[in-house]
Amino acid sequence: MAMAKSLALFLLMELIVGGYGDGANGLSMNYYVFSCPFAEQIVRNTVTSALQSDPTLAAGLVRMHFHDCWIQGCDGSVLLDSTKNNTAEKESPGNLSVRGFELIDDVKGQLENQCPGVVSCADIVAMAARDAVARSGGPVYDIPKGRKDGRRSKIEDTFSAPSPSFNASELVRAFGQRGFSARDMVALSGAHTLGVARCSSFKNRLSDPTVDSDFSKILSKTCSGGDNAEQPFDMTRNNFDNFYFKALQRKSGLLFSDQTLYSNPRTKSIADGYAKNQATFFHDFQQAMVKMSLLDVKEGSKGEVRLDCRRIN
Ligand code: HEM
Repeated sequence: MAMAKSLALFLLMELIVGGYGDGANGLSMNYYVFSCPFAEQIVRNTVTSALQSDPTLAAGLVRMHFHDCWIQGCDGSVLLDSTKNNTAEKESPGNLSVRGFELIDDVKGQLENQCPGVVSCADIVAMAARDAVARSGGPVYDIPKGRKDGRRSKIEDTFSAPSPSFNASELVRAFGQRGFSARDMVALSGAHTLGVARCSSFKNRLSDPTVDSDFSKILSKTCSGGDNAEQPFDMTRNNFDNFYFKALQRKSGLLFSDQTLYSNPRTKSIADGYAKNQATFFHDFQQAMVKMSLLDVKEGSKGEVRLDCRRIN
């Protein structure tokens, strides 16, 4: 009996203080369990109903999380609107097609009603991306919470983002500088199993002789609709699966930065492995996503919990 009691106490303490030991010590899986117990559920329900009416939004949410984390860490900086004196990350050419801001505002509104000033916008973005992956048929995983929101969002910070014209070595280097292995990078690129790119992002591929000839015709047809015409990355744009990697095997990667993974022996063997075995891709993807969700997170007084995700407090 005494043992059962001390076990229960131990578990409770774990629940309360269970931190995430990865340089982000203030974060934990149960961060909101007492301060906002329905936070996770609110995010999940909102994502679920939004995806029911627009399944393409999953891609937007996953991409938003990446763009948030890459610049200034996962701190909601991508959500901030420009002001009179500041041009925000949002205005950068690479961010103009980022989608899902209204959903984040919707979740934030509900959370502010339930538990004002508690759940950060950065955590909402991270949870929404996680739920979007799961809802689209991808891996189900959890992430530590407790990120604080940043106070800086400047267009010039975004110029360090990886470009679709990067080759495999440049991608390995750029991700390596942020602590990701080549394997992490290839797995994360697999997020392109969701969504679309606009012609302006891949029109350089129209004159690329290495592109599969049938696929090349499809790209030309899409681009006849102009720079904003959209082409899905793979045949199942709303399903999180390994078709993206199968497309690379058929020389039908949409962006140069996609197909290049197949031209470097190191990244090719990883991509081949994912094309062959979806479970391996899912396993590596979720690990890499958790790692990405912890990029340079702000804790304690290094950040704030924004009351409106579009404005600093
Ligand atoms: C490896 C380096 C990467 C490059 C160069 C890259 C580049 C791009 C580009 C150019 C687009 C299309 C934008 C447009 O034309 O509107 C795009 C879309 C997308 N990216 Fe990436 N990306 C990279 C990595 C990632 C990562 C790590 C994730 C998430 C974990 C991600 C998620 C997405 C998603 C889901 C879309 C589709 C968005 C939609 O349909 O709205 N990307 N990416």
